[in-house]
Amino acid sequence: MALVSFRRVEKVYRPHRAAPYVAVHEFELETEPGEFFCLLGPSGCGKTTVLNMLAGFEEPTGGAIAIEGNPIRGPGRDRAVVFQGDDSLFAWLSAVENVEFGLRMRGVSRRARRERARHYLDLVGLSGQEDKHPPQLSGGMKQRIQIARVLANEPLMLLMDEPFAALDAQTRLLMQEQMRMIANAAKTSVFFITHDIDEAIMLGNRIGVMKAGPASTLKGRIDVALGEERHRTDSAFMDVYREVYEMIRDEVLKSAKGMSRQPEHVR
Ligand SMILES: Nc1ncnc2c1ncn2[C@@H]1O[C@H](COP(=O)(O)OP(=O)(O)OP(=O)(O)O)[C@@H](O)[C@H]1O
Ligand SMILES: [Mg+2]
Repeated sequence: MALVSFRRVEKVYRPHRAAPYVAVHEFELETEPGEFFCLLGPSGCGKTTVLNMLAGFEEPTGGAIAIEGNPIRGPGRDRAVVFQGDDSLFAWLSAVENVEFGLRMRGVSRRARRERARHYLDLVGLSGQEDKHPPQLSGGMKQRIQIARVLANEPLMLLMDEPFAALDAQTRLLMQEQMRMIANAAKTSVFFITHDIDEAIMLGNRIGVMKAGPASTLKGRIDVALGEERHRTDSAFMDVYREVYEMIRDEVLKSAKGMSRQPEHVR
């Protein structure tokens, strides 16, 4: 069974005192359990809209979204969201206390939650940093604490919306290399949003490309038949790059020129 399924999903935003805007229309997508799925598309095409609906933060205005066949009715512990930037950490709690926070709220015993928090800090490469507080840590470290924190709740899947966008270029490369390893080790499925082709190929087993908005939908999917070791300079990597680039290029152009149009029925 598919892990996630979007069937003819539509999202129309109806802002107060402004014309309605069709963000996605007839959006169809399935992802598989264990998959590291990267959703790629030009700026403003509707990627965050899709993720927010999957997270249960936004309700679709049409169609259906299901996880393991169950319709989504709101946010749930099965889907953990990693936000962009690191503002969601508590500055007054140490790294390990931040990671175990959710477990503490759920009444997990002190010993069990400390053990699990340490395990996930170790998994993201932060053992030895347990007692530091967020202001003493770098941006990349804080982002890894966030990831450890959501993994500690052992969700079915991670939802990530450009989580590394605020990091400097080097840290970002490092995080990309570690992220696949972390997802594999934690055996978690990932739904990852980016507008960076390189990032999608570094991370994904499969890449979905969205059309330019309004009324965006999925243009196509590409399987990334690369092993665990991925290098941007390998010819196999560049072959995938070319394939993805060909698919997304027209959409970026359309989006830049504002050529796409809303469907008739909502104008
Ligand atoms: N609450 C809202 N009300 C009205 N329009 C909205 C709202 N949220 C998003 N939109 C519009 O829907 C479209 C899709 O937005 P969304 O944030 O999903 O795009 P995105 O692909 O994530 O963009 P980016 O790459 O810049 O993050 C945009 O045109 C945006 O202006
Ligand atoms: Mg976005």
